Amino acid sequence: MSVAINGDSARVREAYNGKIVTIERFILDQQRSHPEATGTLTSLLYDIALAAKLIANKTTRAGLVDILGSTGRYNVQGEEVQKLDEYADSILFKLNDHTGRVAVMASEEHPDILPIPDHYPTGPYVLLYDPLDGSSNIDVNVSVGTIFAIYRRRSPQGSPGSLEDCLQPGRALVAAGYVIYGSSTMLVYSTGQGVHGFTLDPSVGEFFLSHPYIRMPAKPKYYSANQGYTPFWSEGVRRFTEWLQGQDGGKPLSLRYIGSLVADFHRNLLAGGIFYYPADSRDPRYPSGKLRLIYECAPMAFLAEQAGGAASDGRRPILDIQPQELHQRTPFFVGNRELVAKAEEYIRTYDEGQP
Ligand code: AHG
Ligand code: MN
Ligand code: MN
Repeated sequence: MSVAINGDSARVREAYNGKIVTIERFILDQQRSHPEATGTLTSLLYDIALAAKLIANKTTRAGLVDILGSTGRYNVQGEEVQKLDEYADSILFKLNDHTGRVAVMASEEHPDILPIPDHYPTGPYVLLYDPLDGSSNIDVNVSVGTIFAIYRRRSPQGSPGSLEDCLQPGRALVAAGYVIYGSSTMLVYSTGQGVHGFTLDPSVGEFFLSHPYIRMPAKPKYYSANQGYTPFWSEGVRRFTEWLQGQDGGKPLSLRYIGSLVADFHRNLLAGGIFYYPADSRDPRYPSGKLRLIYECAPMAFLAEQAGGAASDGRRPILDIQPQELHQRTPFFVGNRELVAKAEEYIRTYDEGQP
């Protein structure tokens, strides 16, 4: 029986009540509510789920296989490449370079776009990814993740994919999601019909629907920011942080900061809260903060909005930003709509002198 996946989680739970819902079944059911769908996106999402299983298999045994530590090489970000970064990056590329579903890819780990090899066909989609998010946490056994963004190609079918294909605003996203390799491995994605979470059962190597129609709780619990950098933040961001701490009489939010965007985002998605990585004056090379727009902030912003939240660079929605370059960085505020709006208000008032 196919279930038209629309509506709310209660309806979905009732529709699937007692049934075993794999990610394949759920994606296929979602595809059925799009008669024009060809199944290519469905297959691309399967390929990403397979990549997640392979990467999860390595992360859960990181101490036993030669996956800990760094490669001694540095990526375009100037960051030392961890072995698991490299493994995850190669898995994502190799599972998608030959399928004829993708026109071009781009990865945090490579300076330029990743064309489809000439001897393989190109397809209608563009895949951008952060293969391993939270690299600094790999060797200390703290949750890490993978983030992906999927667009339709803009360049003509049959031609090689282009940089312009990769530089699309988040509003044009077809699908986005992340995998979190934590106490369990979860894949969370959206194709614009709500946010849905699947938990991996490693004993059978299958993702099962565990969190249909995730909505950010109205009442926030946490705020997440690296307060070690407070001296380098603008006055507006510092005052916003004080407001979050209840310094003007409000009830304080709890601080949780893991240092993996995927893990901090996932906790706030399920429990309510805000994550922010603002611009800071620490490093003149990075005036816009550390996080990258096209394969970290835009996909997470897409999920946040699909779950009833918001995401901003402190002045405008992340999804409205037209990327100018592949590894462009942006200040990032994501979570409950009211908290993101409050951050923008403090920035407008104290950093821009506007009422
Ligand atoms: P990546 O490992 O892909 O480079 O991403 C790390 C990012 C993000 O996951 C996290 O929120 C942030 O770096 C933490 O940065 P700080 O250590 O400066 O707080
Ligand atoms: Mn990252
Ligand atoms: Mn990364």
